[in-house]
Amino acid sequence: MDEVTRKLQREAERIAARHPLPEFYSRFRAPAALARKLFFRHPTLSILRRDLQPFLHDELGHGLYHSTRVSIDTATLVCVELLYQGKIARDRVERLMVLGIAAGMLHDIRRNEEEHARLGAEEAARVLKRYSLGCREIQCVCAAIRNHEAFTTPTAGGPEWFELISDCLYDADKFRWGPDTFVHTLWHMVSQQGLSPRDLIARFPWGMTGLARISETFRTGTGRQYGPGIIDTGAEIGKEIYQYLRRHYQGDSNGQ
Ligand SMILES: [Fe+2]
Ligand SMILES: [Fe+2]
Repeated sequence: MDEVTRKLQREAERIAARHPLPEFYSRFRAPAALARKLFFRHPTLSILRRDLQPFLHDELGHGLYHSTRVSIDTATLVCVELLYQGKIARDRVERLMVLGIAAGMLHDIRRNEEEHARLGAEEAARVLKRYSLGCREIQCVCAAIRNHEAFTTPTAGGPEWFELISDCLYDADKFRWGPDTFVHTLWHMVSQQGLSPRDLIARFPWGMTGLARISETFRTGTGRQYGPGIIDTGAEIGKEIYQYLRRHYQGDSNGQ
């Protein structure tokens, strides 16, 4: 990442820090803490994380940072969705959270290729055979990965818990279209594509309209309730970054 892009990312972080945390993150601190504990300490997930680290590249902003945040939010959503249903043993909740984390870690493993969701599911099936997951559990994780692309209709099939993991992965991945877009993903894309600040200014309004459309697509009850707040916070941050860019780079030789 060049110096200008890095400076802009720092500025974006400063802007984002002035905005309140979206309600999903303040309301569900306990499920999120459990999700983090499983992500960092569960024996199978620790080995998987260590093994995957060299393959999760951040070139387009969909590497380790992205997969970690998707994993933790997927598991948080699984926990919250199951708590609403009640009458489910804690062990079972934790096991499904583990599957959600595995799906989050692997979902963009083939991100740089066409049809990355389908290819990612196939790759996940190969990878997960080496870990202590059951055959149905692997099918569940792979189905979720296959279904995670935006603006597509998920393929149904399998028991209810397949759908739960699939919908939670989708929503957690689309939560990233909120503040994460502006503090992280955008700058990796700018860097990868060699965009100047002026190029970015030209593309910004079009990009923002795409972000707004995702709010209609959340699949879980929790995602539908709290996802739009995450996207709206991102949009507010985005507007300020756009103003900053126009103030500092439009019509200026620095913005070439
Ligand atoms: Fe993806
Ligand atoms: Fe993703």
